[in-house]
Amino acid sequence: MIPNQVRSAPGLLVTKNLERRFGESIAVSGVSFEVPRGQMVAIIGRSGAGKSTLLNLTNRLLDPTSGSIFYEGLDIARLNGDALLAWRRNCAMIFQRFNLVDRLDVLTNVLTGRLNHPPRWPKLFGRFSEEDRDRAIDALYTLGLDDQALKRADQLSGGQQQRVAIARALVQEPKIILADEPVASLDPINSKSVMDALRTINQERDITVLCNLHSVPLAKEYCDRIIGLNAGKIVFDGACADLGEEELVEVYGSLTAIEDAL
Ligand SMILES: Nc1ncnc2c1ncn2[C@@H]1O[C@H](COP(=O)(O)OP(=O)(O)OP(=O)(O)O)[C@@H](O)[C@H]1O
Ligand SMILES: [Mg+2]
Repeated sequence: MIPNQVRSAPGLLVTKNLERRFGESIAVSGVSFEVPRGQMVAIIGRSGAGKSTLLNLTNRLLDPTSGSIFYEGLDIARLNGDALLAWRRNCAMIFQRFNLVDRLDVLTNVLTGRLNHPPRWPKLFGRFSEEDRDRAIDALYTLGLDDQALKRADQLSGGQQQRVAIARALVQEPKIILADEPVASLDPINSKSVMDALRTINQERDITVLCNLHSVPLAKEYCDRIIGLNAGKIVFDGACADLGEEELVEVYGSLTAIEDAL
């Protein structure tokens, strides 16, 4: 057994008493949960509830103030150097604003998902292997974008751009996808295409998905489980069917706030 590792089921993500403070304010507090491999989990809560902080702690863009995160028994909060880079490869991020390079074509944008896989130097100069290209084309095909491969990224619709970002995440060959409000800037039709894509990847490739969402109906339609945060604490964790009006008030604090999320 390597140091900082305890026995765990394959693909199991565990947080224990996770806390993150920013100065005096607490963004995430006492957060403990277990996510088995292949689950698709929605994280909901009002603005400022701690959703982004929780995802950023999970991929170690942020360090916890206290508490632990384990993946397959490995203590993520204590990784550094190559082990931390390896963890970030396992943990792909999807953001609200896609974060594509507008002037590059779609295929090259997807290939950047391979940048952290060795050997890195040729890739930094735009030299990707045939294998990487095949992987990127395969990912674009999965996302229904193979015919868009040579277009500039900024010529695509918002929904298509977000699916390019998902293809980029896929070529990273992650164990987990962390999606931070992936549909917040999209209309309902594009939102559906992006959520469909995430669900398909989750089910067909057994990749765990943690997805911050502002829409409760989308969370219920697409996810296996919902975690509700309020002021950094988990106030709901359960099946979609168990999230009723009473639980929504716990999460959102008031009926008016709930209306925004419905
Ligand atoms: N870098 C930071 N410095 C200081 N405070 C921060 C920082 N990042 C987050 N916070 C604070 O932590 C709390 C949780 O923020 P977070 O961004 O995680 O919320 P959120 O649920 O993602 O909100 P939103 O729905 O608006 O994206 C907020 O009070 C926020 O102001
Ligand atoms: Mg956020």
